[in-house]
Amino acid sequence: MLTCLPPQNTAALLSMPLTPILLLLPSMGWLCSWPWRVTFLRLMLLLNKEKWQRNKYVGVSLLGKKLAIMGFGKVGSEVARRAKGLGMNVMAHDPYAPLDRARAIGVKLVSFEEAISTADFISLHMPLTPTTSKMFNNDSFSKMKKGIRIINVARGGVIDEAALVSALDSQIVAQAALDVFMEEPPPKDSKLVLHENVIVTPHLGASTTEAQEGVALEVAEAVLRALNGELSSTVVNAPMLSAEVLSELEPFVALSEKLGRLAVQLVAGGSDMKLVKLTYGSARNPNDLDTRVLRAMVIKGLIEPISSVSVNLINYNFIAKQRGLIIAEERIILNGSPENPIEFIQLQIANVESNFASSISDSGEITVEGKLKDGKPHLTKVGSFEVDVSLEGCIILCKQVDQPGLIGKVGSILGQEKVNVNFMTVGRIAPRRQAVMIIGVDEDPSKEVLKKIGEISAIEEFVFLKL
Ligand SMILES: *[C@@H]1O[C@H](CO)[C@@H](O)[C@H](O)[C@H]1NC(C)=O
Repeated sequence: MLTCLPPQNTAALLSMPLTPILLLLPSMGWLCSWPWRVTFLRLMLLLNKEKWQRNKYVGVSLLGKKLAIMGFGKVGSEVARRAKGLGMNVMAHDPYAPLDRARAIGVKLVSFEEAISTADFISLHMPLTPTTSKMFNNDSFSKMKKGIRIINVARGGVIDEAALVSALDSQIVAQAALDVFMEEPPPKDSKLVLHENVIVTPHLGASTTEAQEGVALEVAEAVLRALNGELSSTVVNAPMLSAEVLSELEPFVALSEKLGRLAVQLVAGGSDMKLVKLTYGSARNPNDLDTRVLRAMVIKGLIEPISSVSVNLINYNFIAKQRGLIIAEERIILNGSPENPIEFIQLQIANVESNFASSISDSGEITVEGKLKDGKPHLTKVGSFEVDVSLEGCIILCKQVDQPGLIGKVGSILGQEKVNVNFMTVGRIAPRRQAVMIIGVDEDPSKEVLKKIGEISAIEEFVFLKL
């Protein structure tokens, strides 16, 4: 959402000694979007503070400084564009960003490690998801260049606040500017808020009157266009399905979404998800099977865990297109009773790396396959491994050298930490060779538990997935 902000408003919002800069900005014309405004003001605040404390800090210029944009969505790319205009050296980390968008802006896409270890400034713009939660923790701070400056206008939960305090204390982080917190408002005695090298604002990001009005206007315009019979980018016709078709496909709706959620969590960071192949195995005549709602749910499953957009039956094709995602659908016509509309659904993500190599099938795609059993979604295949797991709660996938006693070892680690295991199952390729173990757990295991499991020598790789 792009909105222009009158200077007096900005000044009122921030009530900081910034008037000269603020008066200057609108006339420069490039301060017209809130994300950039917020980020820019934070950069300015950091610099400004330095000006007042010359004896304490050596001043920094933005020119030629490395800025790492974490999360290269709408907001991140706007910030990148403008920071480049200031002569900053901009890189971005976003596992799901389209390469061509980065190229168009002239930003290098880098790994998380490279971004945090080489940046002078970091600006956070990623959504809060299970993967990004506390992504900035003791471990990541320890890899940063000393004297880094961090700006967070995204979500509070992506920074472990205790870790940030200790990174500030040890001067790894020279300064932090925060608009968002794990708990809002933060407690009065929050060490972070009180820290002398921290600048805070009370979650101002999107809450300007103008931004709110802008959203309302855009929606109203879209409705008007639709009433006039026009289709716009924000309005895409929902598939019209009869009630009978819907009720028949309903159990497959959950299966489709879960397969999508599962598959996207198997994509390695830094891989650009472009081509998704969906295969439906069915004994029905293809004309009697309308799979649009399943396609929509797969897209929902693939996109929601990695972004803050909400995908529904109206916008799914638009959202997929916007992300450069191509969904290719195929039917395999099976012999059998056409009573059951679908025997299995297979989802493959092509041309990506996986954080769990065993999920890549012989033909080179991340592959998951599922079916309904007693009306409940089940996972029946991961990569080339045949498995059978009810898709509920959270699951841990481990690849191991198949050996006796291993299940017990993993079970006891989880048991010690009071993580309730509701099932364990092993899919083998050949006895005593490679196997994939799937463990279903009721609650999220802590990072320590996952680390302990990873340290078991017979386990070659593993991944924790939320459904
Ligand atoms: C991070 O480091 C600080 C200081 O060493 C420590 O107090 C805190 O417990 C650590 N956090 C985690 C999650 O290990």
